[in-house]
Amino acid sequence: MTTARVVSLSELGSADVIKLIDKELPSPAKGEVQIRQTAIGFNFIDVYQRSGVYPLDLPTGLGHEAVGVVKALGEGVSNFKIGDRVMYINAGIGAYASARNVPADKLVPVPDQISDEVAAAVFFKAMTAQYLVQKTYQVKAGDIVLVHAAAGGVGQILAGWAKALGAFVVGTVGSPTKFAAAKEAGCDAVIDYSKPNWVEEFIKATGGKKANVVYDSVAKDTFLGSLDCTAPFGTVALFGGASGPAPEIQPEILNKKGCLFLTRPSVFPHNATPALLQENARAVFDAIAKGYVKVQIGAKFSLEQAADVHRAAEGRKVSGAIIMIP
Ligand SMILES: NC(=O)c1ccc[n+]([C@@H]2O[C@H](COP(=O)([O-])OP(=O)(O)OC[C@H]3O[C@@H](n4cnc5c(N)ncnc54)[C@H](OP(=O)(O)O)[C@@H]3O)[C@@H](O)[C@H]2O)c1
Repeated sequence: MTTARVVSLSELGSADVIKLIDKELPSPAKGEVQIRQTAIGFNFIDVYQRSGVYPLDLPTGLGHEAVGVVKALGEGVSNFKIGDRVMYINAGIGAYASARNVPADKLVPVPDQISDEVAAAVFFKAMTAQYLVQKTYQVKAGDIVLVHAAAGGVGQILAGWAKALGAFVVGTVGSPTKFAAAKEAGCDAVIDYSKPNWVEEFIKATGGKKANVVYDSVAKDTFLGSLDCTAPFGTVALFGGASGPAPEIQPEILNKKGCLFLTRPSVFPHNATPALLQENARAVFDAIAKGYVKVQIGAKFSLEQAADVHRAAEGRKVSGAIIMIP
């Protein structure tokens, strides 16, 4: 038996519900691998789940993404050996932990040239950007792309990847302090969506054109404006709700705004099978190798500070990805 330090929630609510406990970890079961975790990725979905926006059964762990070293193998595991560096984004909730057992078919080997910290900062977010630029809408040279929250974890990667594909990228940020980070990430123009005229600012920034695709993870504060920023037959990819759920609409509005395509995608179905997970991870590693995906670790905390991580994310204090070290 190993003792692991894990985040455990006995209620949902503010960041104060995040508690750390010691938990006995059994030997890995058939098909599982035991990992000593070295870096954990924070993702905004952790806030939705902790707060009850996406309800969880209690008691529960928290977190979807971590990197670590294989310490023990369950029966029948042949594709990993002790000492391998591995990472995951969807091995069951509970990534906020110093060690855990996960199904081997949910793991991806970490390439030698990528450090544990960078892997934890990038994997979930780049896997999200990957399906958004390659599948939801295939970004191509000459496209106009609008990325909301472009200084955030996913936002920076998405903006940089779309720029590398040859698009003209406009990023939005919630305050002027984040302009530089969005620009550095690859945005051709950055606008402040806390200003009431941000839609006009967007159209001015593109020289009067609208977007082929709008990537909207902010929702409540941005969604209706996003429809106004989208060119006829363009795509609105609503992939999160950092400011709250999007307002309800009648489908007819999509006709009036120019026969728009609206989708609400998620990284999990895009990686639902082991084959898809490995294939998409290869696309991400390829993009990193080409320099399409740049990694900005915005803040590093200890696992003990998990509640502070959530406070920082909800306080919109950090640009780039947040990681925790167990
Ligand atoms: N569907 C999927 O597959 C998928 C996968 C991964 C992530 N996501 C979504 O992508 C978004 C970014 O995720 P992330 O983990 O990289 O987080 P993040 O971007 O680091 O943080 C969220 C950002 O949203 C903006 N925001 C706007 N209103 C906010 C509010 N009321 N409270 C907090 N933040 C607010 C903030 O930027 P400003 O301060 O500049 O406004 C903040 O930086 C999230 O909405 C997440 O749910 C979706």
